[in-house]
Amino acid sequence: MNEPGTGASPSPERRVKPPPDRLYGRIKSHTLRPRQRKLLDETLPRIRFQMEAATDPRAAFPMALDQLWLEVGFGGGEHALSQIETNPSVGLIACEVFELGLCSLLSRLVPDDAEATGPLPANLRLYDDDARQLIRALPDGSLHRLFLMFPDPWPKLRHAKRRFVHPALLPDIARVLVLGGEWRIASDDPTYQAWVTEVMGAQTLFDVPPPATIRPEGWPPTRYEAKAIRAGRQPLYWSAVRR
Ligand SMILES: C[S@@+](CC[C@H](N)C(=O)[O-])C[C@H]1O[C@@H](n2cnc3c(N)ncnc32)[C@H](O)[C@@H]1O
Repeated sequence: MNEPGTGASPSPERRVKPPPDRLYGRIKSHTLRPRQRKLLDETLPRIRFQMEAATDPRAAFPMALDQLWLEVGFGGGEHALSQIETNPSVGLIACEVFELGLCSLLSRLVPDDAEATGPLPANLRLYDDDARQLIRALPDGSLHRLFLMFPDPWPKLRHAKRRFVHPALLPDIARVLVLGGEWRIASDDPTYQAWVTEVMGAQTLFDVPPPATIRPEGWPPTRYEAKAIRAGRQPLYWSAVRR
């Protein structure tokens, strides 16, 4: 798509509309089993990260933290759970809006009938709303890492504005990361891969080395990654470093 009269391709910023305020993926599930209802009603409130805590996010954890990390769209929660187990002195705010995803992670934290009482990890908090709003509310330099694992690709051009990697969000993401902080992005979708390459190639806030084609050490696998590999798609793994 060329700019009229110039022959040059317009920047991604000029080609894509601003990000919409609302989210488009699936959020509610039609039927929740009794256990899932209890997890949402009894367990989630005990581990929920409240928007009011955003101005002082470390205070939402009952322990001193070496670093604070954030995961966007944790899906079934495999990556988040592995990260908090491997990094006990780091606090993770894991964001997901899809109810069944929240239930999937919560079900691995507390056994049946302990939804209201079972102990919960001190270094994990769940944010069950739009991660973009939370990022906008966090203080400067409050995060050491941000994870975006296999985001919804929205491959149609007219849906590009819904993609999490969006030129308009980059300044917010850069602002909340410390200098040298890392933004990890993984995607198996060829359109999204080309989009990340283009958007990250047109910005100056992050150093972005070429992506890895094999999952790097310290990147726990996720459900979507497994699905992508089974289907014969090649994931790419970016590690963008805040300048
Ligand atoms: C394709 S799934 C990938 C899940 C997981 N990361 C994995 O790799 O298996 C993307 C997830 O991101 C969630 N999501 C998308 N945009 C989000 C946002 N702005 N805030 C929180 N969650 C979001 C969706 O609900 C969905 O569950």
